[in-house]
Amino acid sequence: MKLDITPSGQSCGASVRGVDLSRPLLKEAAAAIRAVWLEHQVLAFPDQKLTDEQLEDYTLNFGPFGEDPFIAPIPGHPHIIAVKRKADETSPIFAESWHTDWSFQARPPQGTCLYGKTIPPTGGDTLFTNQYLALEQIPADLRKRIEGKRAIHSARNAYAPTGFYGAGDKGRSMDIRPSDDAQATQAHPIIRKHPETGRESLFGCAGYIVGIEGMDPAEGWDLVSEIYRWQTRPQFQYRHKWSPDMLVMWDNRCTLHMATGGYAGLDRMLHRTTIGAA
Ligand SMILES: [Fe+2]
Repeated sequence: MKLDITPSGQSCGASVRGVDLSRPLLKEAAAAIRAVWLEHQVLAFPDQKLTDEQLEDYTLNFGPFGEDPFIAPIPGHPHIIAVKRKADETSPIFAESWHTDWSFQARPPQGTCLYGKTIPPTGGDTLFTNQYLALEQIPADLRKRIEGKRAIHSARNAYAPTGFYGAGDKGRSMDIRPSDDAQATQAHPIIRKHPETGRESLFGCAGYIVGIEGMDPAEGWDLVSEIYRWQTRPQFQYRHKWSPDMLVMWDNRCTLHMATGGYAGLDRMLHRTTIGAA
């Protein structure tokens, strides 16, 4: 197997050809993909015809499945969720805000696999931002103020009954299950060393981050907001364009991502798995 890799030319991301992901991967092939993944953070594999079982098998090359709270799985596949939107849907776009998946967990997922099934011809790009780069270029005084600090993460603003996807969220085709469990909090260092690359990056952002440990709430939130404005700057971003039958896998440990709209009147549907902590 010879992987054919085309970097996006932006802050991260690469497109990969030369491998059929519907077939079991040899250990060496999975290791080669993993190395390219760690280098580029976001990989896109166009033109892959995958069943749900093949998506599951592919995911398991990189770790166990993650735990997916608050979104019901598709029937018969407890580790796959459907990210979908109907043509006539008017609820706000799902996940159209920066985050890294399930960062409020004690052991957040290493990565996420997202497979495009119904992809509109325009719109629906996914934005990523490279958090190694954001930290590398962070102003020294801002770095000093976050060094050694831990952020408090929580799903409450999204998935509590009072949250964005809670009781007030109507007419959504995704099967979201708000819960009081979303009130829980979990601290993670703001600057984290990636367990595989050893490189430091920023981890998470305002949204799932609701404060900073040991800081006055208002002061903590000001700092969280200041980091957010830095870490989401356009110079750190990669805009990913989808096509049908494309599998994308990203590293949640060193990136943020968000969905975008722009496809009103068209259906969109993707299947998602998470790669759990090693
Ligand atoms: Fe996400």
